[in-house]
Amino acid sequence: MKDKIYIFDTTLRDGEQSPGCSMNTQEKLKMARQLEALNVDVIEAGFPMASEGDFEAVKEVAKTIKGCTIAALSRATTADIDRAFEALQYAAKPRIHVFIATSDIHLKHKLKKTRQQVLEQSVNTVAYAKKLSSDVEFSCEDASRSDIDYLCQVIEAVINAGATVVNLPDTVGYSIPQDYGFMIKTIRERVKNIDKTILSVHCHNDLGLAVGNSIAAVMNGARQVECTVNGIGERAGNASLEEFVMALRTRPDVLPYQVDVKTEEIFKSSRLLSTMTGMMVQRNKAIVGANAFSHEAGIHQDGIIKSRMTYEIMTPDSVGIKHSTLVLGKHSGRHALRQRFEELGYTLTPEELDNVYTEFTRLADKKKEILDEDLIAILNNKFDSDETKYMLSSLQVMTGTGVKSTAVLELNDGKEAYVDSATGDGPVDAAYNAIERITKLNGQLVDYTIKSVTWGGDAVGEVFVKVIFNKVVFTGHAASTDIVTGSVEAYLQAVNRALSAKIPRSADENLIKNQANAV
Ligand code: KIV
Ligand code: ZN
Repeated sequence: MKDKIYIFDTTLRDGEQSPGCSMNTQEKLKMARQLEALNVDVIEAGFPMASEGDFEAVKEVAKTIKGCTIAALSRATTADIDRAFEALQYAAKPRIHVFIATSDIHLKHKLKKTRQQVLEQSVNTVAYAKKLSSDVEFSCEDASRSDIDYLCQVIEAVINAGATVVNLPDTVGYSIPQDYGFMIKTIRERVKNIDKTILSVHCHNDLGLAVGNSIAAVMNGARQVECTVNGIGERAGNASLEEFVMALRTRPDVLPYQVDVKTEEIFKSSRLLSTMTGMMVQRNKAIVGANAFSHEAGIHQDGIIKSRMTYEIMTPDSVGIKHSTLVLGKHSGRHALRQRFEELGYTLTPEELDNVYTEFTRLADKKKEILDEDLIAILNNKFDSDETKYMLSSLQVMTGTGVKSTAVLELNDGKEAYVDSATGDGPVDAAYNAIERITKLNGQLVDYTIKSVTWGGDAVGEVFVKVIFNKVVFTGHAASTDIVTGSVEAYLQAVNRALSAKIPRSADENLIKNQANAV
């Protein structure tokens, strides 16, 4: 029987803590459900001591997801461990993940502790965590730059204290595969009680070697790999889940290991994450990039037509990229729409189908053929119903060169209509100023990205925004054939999220910074 490699997904913790990737609790929950569908073994849901929001998210994920182990990160202190377990207590399979640095660089400059002190702290906190949870993971932060003798000493001691998993991160992405593999081999040979634990690896991608290092580690005895969807994470990111898993699936001749990930869920997971965070994957990204399965060169196209094996080492189907069997357009009905979504792997409730169908018909009036990318954009575009407060009823903009742009817009909250107008530097700015005047929510736009989902003059554009309301960042996303409308809807989603998070509105009309811009 093949050795199993456990997939520990840290998209919601290491991934989420990287700039531009923050998610609110509802988004984390949505992503956690998708990770469960992807069938990862462990979901690291957050770092409860880091913030109230992280605590809530771990708690909600622990309550909801029953098919995976749920891990929560904790520094090696009893206060952190208590907080982690408080959030994890509802999990069917909880894991407390305790970490402390073991490299001399970190001990001297960051912790200001001796090796002996860190050793004792590690043992004491693992023993403490073990009283709360039978599953305890211990991470030696900066393991790859730690002294190997000391590392072996710490590992042996924490296993004796009850660690069920010992993780050896390449925290700063400094390793190369040969060294990292050798470190794992040495630990396996020298630590007497190593068979009582699962050895885990966690690689950062600063030199672009995170997946290569993880593979080298597995070839030398590691049996858990920590990774993230789309490789998001601190700095250059973490090992990409999809790249690691597909390497194992594609090369069983040299990597004869079992992974239980449902690879057909990979594309959906990638797409959901990038839509929610606005962190797009580059076109040429392995496995999930837009070009990963497209063949441009004539010789390649000719080969592919004759046999896909000529230039494809894995099929798009195997990662959940489906080819259309029918083209949808304005004459397509609900049945065809539901069928197409099912082919794409989305089962819609009757209510979701109603919502999506309305948007689909609107789009079909503007665009001749609706492609799969459009459908996914529409689906991910829907407001979460509990968040929706304001919706766009109508928008009119006047813009040009050498004139100030003006926007007149009407919003409704399901009961009342609100009309206002404002000027701005360009139509989008003017519309945002008008929204601010209506909602009395003072926002600072910190990120604005626009990307075309398909091609051609009638292509759907996807807009992502990040807006700070009262020091808290909210994201918004929308898709439309009209980029100003898309921009307004994306901003409104951020506004609605801020309102459902109870961000206070400005009581003083004069505080609305764009008051002076009123038309
Ligand atoms: O990179 C790292 O060392 C980590 C640990 C906290 C596991 O993320
Ligand atoms: Zn990390």
